[in-house]
Amino acid sequence: MAEIAAENAVTVKNLLSALEGESNANAKYNAFAIKADADGFRGAASLFRAAARAEQIHATNHARVIVQLGGKVAIKIHEIEVGSMLENLKTALAGEQYEIATMYPGFIAEATAHNNTAAIRTFHNALEAEKTHARLYAEAIALLEAGSKDTWIAKPRDFFVCPVCGYTSETPNEHDRCPVCNTPWDKFLVIR
Ligand SMILES: [Fe+2]
Ligand SMILES: [Fe+2]
Repeated sequence: MAEIAAENAVTVKNLLSALEGESNANAKYNAFAIKADADGFRGAASLFRAAARAEQIHATNHARVIVQLGGKVAIKIHEIEVGSMLENLKTALAGEQYEIATMYPGFIAEATAHNNTAAIRTFHNALEAEKTHARLYAEAIALLEAGSKDTWIAKPRDFFVCPVCGYTSETPNEHDRCPVCNTPWDKFLVIR
């Protein structure tokens, strides 16, 4: 059986923590999508589903590296508190901001110190994708707070998710390739 090399122990611990964060974000966003649909915010529901799919991609990528490094995959899904539409969007944005500003930069620094390229890549891809989620959640919050219901947050819409890194866009042809991981745009998942 594979064992975790001593120099990878902290990296694996960080990967497990990121895996748990991404898996819980996936569960949370799927629950928030149901609430958004019920409240008539069909476009915001589409966004939650797209981001949920991206978090699942991050979780799968992290899990693959954990196994490569000889670790064991374990995930605890926590109880989900579903609030109002605005509260859910703010919870989602705060989670993304924590990952962008604190969690992933710290994990990338640690993996870089140990020259662990597979870990650096999966953390970096997730970090860059979370920036797209933060941008879209912030936009949805601004629209909701402005009280303008006749906007994209109300109507079901397609989002485009990179199947490799989870980069998420509202634009069908934003680039030829994913700006984060270079996957051809025509491979992107269409989530509504
Ligand atoms: Fe995200
Ligand atoms: Fe990508």
